[in-house]
Amino acid sequence: MFFHDKGGYDAIMNKNIILIGFMGCGKSSIGRRLALKLGHQFLDSDDLVTARAGQSITEIFAAEGEEGFRFRETSELQILTGSSNIVLATGGGAILTPVNRDILRELGLVIWLHADSETLFTRATRSRKRPLLEVENPRSSLIALLESRLSLYGGTADLKIDATGLSHEQTVDKILHHAAAIPHTGDLNKEEDDFH
Ligand code: S3P
Repeated sequence: MFFHDKGGYDAIMNKNIILIGFMGCGKSSIGRRLALKLGHQFLDSDDLVTARAGQSITEIFAAEGEEGFRFRETSELQILTGSSNIVLATGGGAILTPVNRDILRELGLVIWLHADSETLFTRATRSRKRPLLEVENPRSSLIALLESRLSLYGGTADLKIDATGLSHEQTVDKILHHAAAIPHTGDLNKEEDDFH
C-alpha cells in the first residue's frame, strides 16, 4: 500500500505525529523520514533524555536503574506538552505509565509501528544500547516484554501500522496513506485494515 493522494497528505500536515512501538520497530529512522516529508521537527524521547543527562541510556540504567530512566522519560514528555508540528519517536517503554499515555494521546496522532518478533529481535539487538536486552537470553526477554506490552500499544494508538517486510520508505508511505484517513479524536483505536 503506497501513498499517492496529496489531498490526504494535507490532512495530517498540521498534526503532531507520535510513534510508539517496541524496540527495533524503526521509530527513529521512520520518524526522521516522516518529519522530512511533513516539514515537521523530528524529536526522539531517548535523545532528549540522554542529552539532558549527558549520559547514554546504558549509563543511566547503570547509575539510576530503569526507574531513574523512566522518571527522566516522563519529564521529557511533560516538557513537550503544547508542542506543534513535531514527529516524536518514543522509547519502546514510554507507554508503560498512564501519565505518559495521557501525554502522548493529548499531544497528537499516536501511531503504533509494529513488526513481527523476529524482525524486532534482529533490529533491536544490532546495537548494544538497549539495556533491557543485555540479558542472558535476549530473545525470550524480548518476547515476554513484547507480550506484556501489546495491549498497551494497542490501547494507546489511534492507528497500528505493520512494517514487517517493508523498507523505511515504504513504511512512511503506508503511514501517510492510513493516517490521512483518520481524524484524531483521542479515542480511536484502529487497525490499518479498517481503512482499506
Ligand atoms: C526501552 C526502549 C528504548 C529505550 C530504553 C528502554 C524499552 O528505546 O527507551 O532502552 O523499555 O522498550 P527504543 O525503543 O528506541 O529502543
